Amino acid sequence: MSKIIELKDVVKSFGGTRAVDGLSLSLEEGGVLGFLGTNGAGKTTTIKMILGLLSPDEGTVSVLGGNPADPSVRAGLGYLPEAAYYYPLLDAPEVLAFYGRMSGMDESTIAERTEDLLEDVGLAHDAWNRPLKTYSKGMLQRVGIAQALVHNPKLLVLDEPFTGLDPLARRRFRQLIMRYRDAGGSVIFSSHDLSEAELICDSVAILRRGRIVFSGARNDLAGDASVNLERLFLSKLAESGDEEAKEALK
Ligand SMILES: Nc1ncnc2c1ncn2[C@@H]1O[C@H](COP(=O)(O)OP(=O)(O)OP(=O)(O)O)[C@@H](O)[C@H]1O
Ligand SMILES: [Mg+2]
Repeated sequence: MSKIIELKDVVKSFGGTRAVDGLSLSLEEGGVLGFLGTNGAGKTTTIKMILGLLSPDEGTVSVLGGNPADPSVRAGLGYLPEAAYYYPLLDAPEVLAFYGRMSGMDESTIAERTEDLLEDVGLAHDAWNRPLKTYSKGMLQRVGIAQALVHNPKLLVLDEPFTGLDPLARRRFRQLIMRYRDAGGSVIFSSHDLSEAELICDSVAILRRGRIVFSGARNDLAGDASVNLERLFLSKLAESGDEEAKEALK
C-alpha cells in the first residue's frame, strides 16, 4: 500500500513557540486517521503543512507522493478548514460551483455533484437558494463538508468536521465518510469529539505539545473492550507527563 501522507521529523515554530516539534506521521491509502490532541497541541498547524499552506522549518512533508505546494498535488486534496469563511452573498450551489470551477470541473458535472452533495449533507431545501449570511452554524458546516468533496479529492483533510453539527448531521457525515473511504478515498481529520472519532477512524494519532504521544491502528485496541478512545487519550497524555490527564484518570 502506498503512503498518502508522510511527515518526517517536522518542526514548525511561530516566534518562540514550537507549535510542531519533531513530528512524524503517515497515512496509508484508503485509511481514515483521527488526529487528536489538546487545544494548542499543533493539529491545525500540522494540517496546514499537509495542505502546503505552511512550510516546515525542518523535516519533510510528502502528500500524494509529492510536495503539497505543487498545484497538481493540491488538486487531489479536499479541505474543510477549522473556521471556514465562504462568501456570504453566495448561496450553497454557488459556493460549490465556485470551488468546482477552481478545480477545473465542467458545469454539468458541478451541477450534478452539487445536487448529490447537498442532499447527502442534508442541507434543508429551503436554504439552497438563500445567501450563506442567512445560514445557521451547522448549515454552514454542512456546506463546508460538501465543498471539501465537490471535486472528488483523493485525500480529504478535515479540521474539526463535527463542530456545530446536530446528531442527524453527524450520522449523515459518518455515512458520507465511510462511503468515500469505501470508494478508495483517504481521510485525516482532527477532532475533540472522541466518541464520534471512535466511530469512523481506522487509526489514531494523539498529539501533545507538538509531539505525537501515541499512534496506532484502532484494530490493535479492539481486543480490549475497556479501551475506548477517551481512556486511551487520557492515559497517553498522562504517560507523557500531563498532570490534568493524570488527575482525570484517578
Ligand atoms: N500564526 C500563528 N502565529 C503564532 N502562533 C501560532 C500561529 N498559529 C498557531 N500558533 C501557535 O501554535 C500552537 C499550535 O496551534 P494550533 O492551532 O496548531 O493548535 P490546535 O491543536 O489546532 O488547537 P485547537 O484544538 O485549539 O484547534 C499554539 O500555541 C498557537 O498559539
Ligand atoms: Mg486547531
